[in-house]
Amino acid sequence: MDHFLYRNGVLHAEDVNLTEIAAEVGTPAYVYSTATLERHFRLFDEALDGMPHLVCYAMKAASNQAILKTLAQLGAGMDVVSGGEYARAKAAGVPGERIVFAGVGKTREEIAQALAGGVRQFNVESEPELALISEVARGLGLTAPVTIRVNPDVDAKTHAKISTGKSENKFGVPISRARDVYAEAARLPGIEVVGIDVHIGSQLTELAPFEGAFTKVAELTEQLRADGHRIDRLDLGGGLGIPYQNTNEKPPLPFDYGALIRRTVGHLGCEIEIEPGRLIAGNAGILLARVIYVKEGEGRRFLILDAAMNDLIRPAMYDAWHDIVPVAEPEPGAERAVYDIVGPVCESGDTFAKSREMPELAAGDLVAFRSAGAYGAVMASEYNTRPLVPEVLVKGDHHAVIRERPTFDEMISRDTIPQWLRED
Ligand code: LLP
Repeated sequence: MDHFLYRNGVLHAEDVNLTEIAAEVGTPAYVYSTATLERHFRLFDEALDGMPHLVCYAMKAASNQAILKTLAQLGAGMDVVSGGEYARAKAAGVPGERIVFAGVGKTREEIAQALAGGVRQFNVESEPELALISEVARGLGLTAPVTIRVNPDVDAKTHAKISTGKSENKFGVPISRARDVYAEAARLPGIEVVGIDVHIGSQLTELAPFEGAFTKVAELTEQLRADGHRIDRLDLGGGLGIPYQNTNEKPPLPFDYGALIRRTVGHLGCEIEIEPGRLIAGNAGILLARVIYVKEGEGRRFLILDAAMNDLIRPAMYDAWHDIVPVAEPEPGAERAVYDIVGPVCESGDTFAKSREMPELAAGDLVAFRSAGAYGAVMASEYNTRPLVPEVLVKGDHHAVIRERPTFDEMISRDTIPQWLRED
């Protein structure tokens, strides 16, 4: 459920009319609902009620500081994957002890940055990384709290590009070698082992793969404890999917996911961390766009929008489906038409939907891409020298621009011309 509903014939974000946002900010633009963000965070928080836990929002999904602050004020931690995300989380007021640092390629600088600023733990993905963290921590006179991310070799049954828990993926250490890696960690002077980490993929629409992974983590916890390691914390990653299509697709709810966690690892007495991104932000955001032209092609009609693949890459990159709805509520029985929905970028991959049946639209009409809050704005680029898409946050009947659209001058002034090309 979300807070984007038709009211008086117009799609609203909470109590704000989207045509008004389009008039003020222009299109394309992302619009987020505070109530939806808060609701989704609370669903996870409540699903783990009774177990010591921390919900660490995977900020890669949507990382505007206003979104981070909204969640941090409810008690969220953050899952960060780069020095940039770490700096953003800190700038949004998240304390170091609520930040977990993930990623297969942490650099010396990023490790030092997080140790100096405070970090709840590093989720370590390899032996060389473990050695480097130990070295950097020693250099600073500190000990680094770590979990080791294990790769359980479980099929997440999701899109290949976002599946991470199979042995062929670059993530984590093979679970079969985990005991050796923990033994190595225990020998390193700058390392303090605090737990185990696992994350098998994103947009999971069934619980079974989670169950497979968490069961393996529970077994490993007991083995590692028997080996003398302190395993107090289990970071179970993110990955719970959302319904993208207005169909019968019904991914499991956070409540069911929480019950699974309780059943598989609840008896171990560990503190539980989870890292949901998409389920918190996905349905909390839409991409607002305007029809530029309706073009008659050979045997097809193109709806050419002012949003393009550079603003929302998911359809081009993962063949993802996003519902695209008119902002003006169609009258009952309104004409329908079949469109290929495309953007203005100069490649055929700039296609949002093929042969999509929807209410008939005309040039100038506004549309909203639903479920675009996660992996939308954060994956946007300036391809074709199109300005980075702006972001707006709504709360009740208030709204605020939380990231401005850059001007052409701002964009092009970042280039510098070397001396040998200057003509002055
Ligand atoms: N934790 C780790 C270690 C991750 O790698 C990810 C996502 C998450 C948590 C959050 O997963 P979520 O709850 O959002 O599924 N750009 C792709 C998704 C990439 C996901 C990458 N890792 C997309 O648009 O579908």
